[in-house]
Formats: sequence, C-alpha cells, structure tokens
Amino acid sequence: MESDHERLDALWEEARRSWPQDVARARDRFRAFREGLLRHIEAEETLLFPFYEVHGTVSTHHLTDFLREEHAQIRAALQKLAGAFEEGSQDVEGPETILRNVLWAHNTREEGLLYPWFDHSITEGEGHELSERIRAMLSKPPS
Ligand SMILES: [Fe+2]
Ligand SMILES: [Fe+2]
Repeated sequence: MESDHERLDALWEEARRSWPQDVARARDRFRAFREGLLRHIEAEETLLFPFYEVHGTVSTHHLTDFLREEHAQIRAALQKLAGAFEEGSQDVEGPETILRNVLWAHNTREEGLLYPWFDHSITEGEGHELSERIRAMLSKPPS
C-alpha cells in the first residue's frame, strides 16, 4: 500500500505539471490518479481497517475513525478537483491545497502507524490472504 501511495503521488505530480499547458494529458493523468486513489481508499476501508478493528487493541480503534474522516475530506477534495480538471468550473489551486494538506498527513499517518502494525502483528498466512484480496481490488478494471 505504501508503494501505491508513491504511484498515486507520481500520477498527481504529472497531472499538475501538465496543467494547463497540456490539458488532455493533465486530464488523463488526473483520471488515473482519482480512480486509483478511490480504489486505494476502498481497499483500506473494506479490507485493512476492518481487520485492524477486529484484531487491534480497543484503545487504538480511534485511529481508523480518524483515517476514515480524512478519507471523507480526500474524497471531497477529489470531487472539487474533478470539477476543475474536467469542466474548468473552478481553479485547481484551492482544492489542490486541501488535497495536499490532508493527503500528505494522512499517508504519513498510515505509513507510520497503520501499515507497520500489519507488518508486525499478523501471521504470514493472514498477510498473504490480505495482500491477494487488496491486489485484486486495486487491479479491478475502471468502472
Ligand atoms: Fe488511506
Ligand atoms: Fe493509504
């Protein structure tokens, strides 16, 4: 999941770099970024977080509540950015700032707290099954 963060960051940077000089390319990269990030969030919310909520300690449950809240903010920023990239209905800068601020802190939190828990706390069999299911979800063709 950490390498998926990097893959998505690169797509975003490319979309941003191409905008507004090469609108077609920027739109193409932005669509791949948005689609990929929504998938990533879906995989976390339906596979990773529930596993953590069942097997983590009760006192750490607020972590996933917090991460879900950040996902909602990320989804809202993506929606606004889609308006900017697809329809030119607003500036890219406003929602970009929101996305950058939330996403950077969010990814850092996951990489510092959540993902390491999985590295240390689950069995090899569980890890294998979980990564297979995540891989399948991330590689679903675009809807
Ligand atoms: Fe996340
Ligand atoms: Fe993530």
